[in-house]
Amino acid sequence: MQPLESLVKEATALAAGTPPEAEVARVLQICNACRYCEGFCAVFPAMTRRLAFPPADVHFLANLCHNCGACLHACQYAPPHEFQLNVPRAMAQVRKHTYQDYAWPPALGSLYARNGLALSLALAAGLALFLVLALALNGTLWGAVPGADFYRIFPHNLMVALFAPVFGFAMLALGIGVVRFWRAAPPGSASRAAVAEAAHDALSLKYLDGGHGDGCNNEDDAFTLARRRAHHATFYGFMLCFAATSLATVYHYAFDWVAPYAYTSLPKLLGTVGGVLMTIGTVALWRLNRRRHPLQGDPAQQTMDRGFIALLFGTAVTGLVLTALRATPALPLLLAVHLGVVLALFATMPYGKFAHGVFRGAALLKWAIEKRQPLKLSLGSE
Ligand code: HEM
Ligand code: SF4
Ligand code: SF4
Repeated sequence: MQPLESLVKEATALAAGTPPEAEVARVLQICNACRYCEGFCAVFPAMTRRLAFPPADVHFLANLCHNCGACLHACQYAPPHEFQLNVPRAMAQVRKHTYQDYAWPPALGSLYARNGLALSLALAAGLALFLVLALALNGTLWGAVPGADFYRIFPHNLMVALFAPVFGFAMLALGIGVVRFWRAAPPGSASRAAVAEAAHDALSLKYLDGGHGDGCNNEDDAFTLARRRAHHATFYGFMLCFAATSLATVYHYAFDWVAPYAYTSLPKLLGTVGGVLMTIGTVALWRLNRRRHPLQGDPAQQTMDRGFIALLFGTAVTGLVLTALRATPALPLLLAVHLGVVLALFATMPYGKFAHGVFRGAALLKWAIEKRQPLKLSLGSE
């Protein structure tokens, strides 16, 4: 154990700008001696398998952290204690570095620092306006469209040409980023049981339960399931919308069944339920985010979180309004606005908060593999 004075000195140096990776290493040295929070989440059991915390391991542990806040509110060394121990904030600051350091292409990693609420809203408004103007110039901005056939306004091939490259690039960039993250500290090969456990933990958001099932902290030391439920609504709503679009693509190319589909068709039902869930989930996440305890997480990243929430909300609401009013003369205008917002969401995906899902998923799989291996106290993954 380090002597008290040196720990206090390190805590003071923190304020003077210690890199977050070094701060997490300092914090975990203290936690490794204390271990009070061992049952809260996977971070602490993973920590106890290590005696030192090189950067690759710090990035793994930071992405394993779900920012539930339990270890902040439980900690006897948290501010105002002189150790200034704040695990969730240190982890959140490292996560931003993970996204930046493993970003592809590397030069675009700095976009994470700029991808905030203002930029998200400006991009969505700009793209929507551009499409609205294009329709206005075309003379098709307003007017009922026979059979609500929106391909008369935006031909199918034009939509594919617009969206496929942006979405494809987002998936490629995130895919390369997460492979680089994996290779920085490879945990060994994944058994079927490890994959199943990681999938279960990601899909149920296991580590937002504080280790006891009562949920996580948000505004104070009371436990709440609200964040977990709001995330589930957002996540599963998004997945349903994605399933709706994928199914419509199969209908189009495999069966030659061309949109628009009836309200009772499967793509429409999936999209409508998904849109409603996403709307409810994002409104709840926004409220919770605004009320979050200021010491939980990294205040500098709040704007990136809110930008992502706003774009998800915008996507869901504009999609629902478009669905409801597709038989009216407002269809072309509403379609242009919806497509602009969706395009902004896709464009910001590889360099914004969406990355958390990919890196957290990889960290959960790493942990599911690592915990099945024999315990060998290591001085890091190298
Ligand atoms: C492996 C999949 C995922 C996991 C494990 C996961 C986990 C988490 C966790 C633990 C948080 C709270 C901590 C934080 O702010 O970073 C969070 C926030 C968030 N997640 Fe996810 N997530 C996943 C995928 C997704 C997807 C696919 C979406 C939507 C498309 C999504 C939407 C959000 C939003 C909007 C927030 C911000 C909430 C806030 O800051 O208040 N997540 N996620
Ligand atoms: S966060 Fe605090 S209470 Fe929890 S293990 Fe670390 S030092 Fe102990
Ligand atoms: S904030 Fe929650 S998930 Fe993160 S280390 Fe602390 S207890 Fe674990």
